[in-house]
Amino acid sequence: MPQTINETLPIAPVDVMALAHEAGRLVVGMQERGLGEIRTKSTDVDLVTEADTECERFLAEGLAALLPGADFWGEESNRSPDSEYYWLVDPIDGTVNYATSVPFYSISIALNREDETLFGLVLKLPSGELFWAERGQGAHRIRPDGREDRLQVNHVDRLGDAMLTTGFPYHRTQHADNNAAEFTQMLTQARSVRCLGSAAIELALVAAGATTAHWEGWLKPWDVAAGKLLIEEAGGVLTTYSGEPYTFGKVSCIASNGQSQLHSALVKNLRSARETLAERLFEE
Ligand code: IPD
Ligand code: CA
Ligand code: CA
Repeated sequence: MPQTINETLPIAPVDVMALAHEAGRLVVGMQERGLGEIRTKSTDVDLVTEADTECERFLAEGLAALLPGADFWGEESNRSPDSEYYWLVDPIDGTVNYATSVPFYSISIALNREDETLFGLVLKLPSGELFWAERGQGAHRIRPDGREDRLQVNHVDRLGDAMLTTGFPYHRTQHADNNAAEFTQMLTQARSVRCLGSAAIELALVAAGATTAHWEGWLKPWDVAAGKLLIEEAGGVLTTYSGEPYTFGKVSCIASNGQSQLHSALVKNLRSARETLAERLFEE
């Protein structure tokens, strides 16, 4: 694991990892002591716990100390950055799992220089498995017992052999363009489809070769930044549902192992599923 600060990365990955683990202990500890007030955000199924805000505050302070002058773009405070370098943070990805004691949620941290993500990590909780990547240096996993390995996407090239993951938007109770049609279509085409509840981990699993692809609409930059770098460094690709390169701000995202036949099949099936919708919230 690199210990030094190099020219292109103005932080030491090991410092960010240590901070993430501290934040993880904070979040897990708050759950063990009993969650306080749970509020809702955009809809009744979009939850925020006191741990979301507390973890974000903790990371904003800690990351500012690691790289003075870098802005902070976190989900809960959600202020767009105004500096060359900035952190993109989801303090708890998978809050619904966390709030209901499903042990599958994460902390996602990325460092951007303008539009380019230089470093990213996803800390899976409560297990403590850590996925991290530095641009140009590959993607890695550090298991809770300290074993490390390099991540590589799998080579599945047929949809029928693919294990997929997906997630559903918080507006799903209010609008029929909510991934239900796409999910139904993929169920009949893929080996299986899982909805695990933390997009950041689901992207890390594509990078690790455990799954073949994740698709989802309405992901936010803090959901995707670290996972995108993990996948790119592990040999995969991210596009929109129409096959254009995925960039922050795009509504739709397909993150796959990059096998062209497989990725084309995902694009084709998502498009045909969306054609059945009476009303679409986006076209791409
Ligand atoms: C959500 C999770 C979920 C995904 C949603 C995200 P949150 O993030 O990643 O798996 O389906 O799109 O918003 O709200 O738990 O940070
Ligand atoms: Ca999230
Ligand atoms: Ca979150």
